[in-house]
Amino acid sequence: MAELKDVYPLYLNNKAVQPNTDLEVTDKYTGEVAFRTALATPDIIEEAIAGTVRATESMAKLASYEKQAVLQHCVEQFRERYDELAYSLCVEAGKPIKDAEGEVDRLIDTFRIAAEESTRNYGEVQPLDISARAKGYMGMWKRVPIGPCSFISPFNFPLNLAAHKIAPAIAVGCPFIIKPASKTPLGTIIMGEVLAECDILPEGAFSVLPASRDGADLFTEDERLKLLSFTGSPGVGWDLKAKAGKKPVILELGGNAAVVVDKDADLDHALERIIFGAFYQSGQSCIGVQRIIIHEDIYDEFKDMLVAKTKTLVAGDPKDRDTFIGPMISDKEAGRLKGWIDEAIEAGAKLLCGGGLSNGNMLEATLLENVPRGCNASKEEAFGPLANLSKFSDFYEALDQVNDSKFGLQAGIFTRDIHQVLDAWDTLDVGGVVVNDVSSYRVDNMPYGGVKDSGLGREGIRFAMEDMTEIRNLVIRRI
Ligand code: SIN
Repeated sequence: MAELKDVYPLYLNNKAVQPNTDLEVTDKYTGEVAFRTALATPDIIEEAIAGTVRATESMAKLASYEKQAVLQHCVEQFRERYDELAYSLCVEAGKPIKDAEGEVDRLIDTFRIAAEESTRNYGEVQPLDISARAKGYMGMWKRVPIGPCSFISPFNFPLNLAAHKIAPAIAVGCPFIIKPASKTPLGTIIMGEVLAECDILPEGAFSVLPASRDGADLFTEDERLKLLSFTGSPGVGWDLKAKAGKKPVILELGGNAAVVVDKDADLDHALERIIFGAFYQSGQSCIGVQRIIIHEDIYDEFKDMLVAKTKTLVAGDPKDRDTFIGPMISDKEAGRLKGWIDEAIEAGAKLLCGGGLSNGNMLEATLLENVPRGCNASKEEAFGPLANLSKFSDFYEALDQVNDSKFGLQAGIFTRDIHQVLDAWDTLDVGGVVVNDVSSYRVDNMPYGGVKDSGLGREGIRFAMEDMTEIRNLVIRRI
């Protein structure tokens, strides 16, 4: 097992600094303090924002090959430090070690994709002679960096969701400040350490600033910051957007994602994927399967399969390779979801398995059926190991059930009927439809984001690069 240090710095204008050790980070399984990090004060955040302003021009002038070299350095270092990164996730996020390794693999993919995209920041030549008055004119446009960016990243994928902001910013040449989640700052601090090794980056190119919740306002309101990209809970995200002023805001928020299992589905395959999609990393994913909508002809059979499989999931220490269900991020979050499960049962839902809470934050993988529509367990984002079963008789009625949500991030459809696939793609009010796999499926180069309360904008490197740049047009008249 890799070892963690007792104390970590923050990164201010590309350099490690240790003004204090005020942030205590616990091992989410043992509850003991695992390490401490520096906490950014308002003065430090101010220095960092001023640093990004100073670095704006030099960042914009970096050549594509230089940005690519920085991103490639990160890829190499993340490969080198693979075990340390995975272990840090295991400790600070309580993520089972196999899931933690999966996240490091994705981190490497995300930076690798950005390294490739950093040399493809293309524009276009556009004929303007569409009428007599424009004869002899031509246009061309290119993308220029938007300027200093502000990033706030969540606890559930501390490495890869920070990477989805950091890597495209470097690929286009935007300086940035990032506030990692206070419960899981270490992954981003290690990324700061790796970036600090890159002399190509001008001073002020980046700051990694663990900060208190009040600090989030400084990341949001300052007009020198030209873009805010936030991943986290819908309540916080929409609130920050209201405070962000003129800057564009990208929000990757939550959901209560659904999968539809039609009667022609391969049930063994659907079972394996749905168990994974609902319960991996204790359901703490924005696209985790929360609603399982099953055709009535196979409902009883598939329900029995789901219950039997869920009961076999091994819960325990995330450092143990056999563990599938680890702790939730905090006692508070586990207690909140346990309360929602109890509330649903009181309102008439049937508990099929699970429901137990131990050690404060170890919530059992739980399946409910017939959860009344108005219950929190159904209408809100569970963000924990809970999934609800319901029935349908007609595929189009199942699509209505999927859409019957204030959220719209991703949905999964298990069917062999291509017409139904195309109809689902047209009809579902979500950012992405996944066929013969779960809503939780994501590859890091695909457009990813939601509609309705689930957010605004798309990540997925190329798409984030578009948000982090502006089109600058050039018109030439031939004389
Ligand atoms: C999320 O939980 O917001 C992202 C899920 C993923 O990247 O797999």
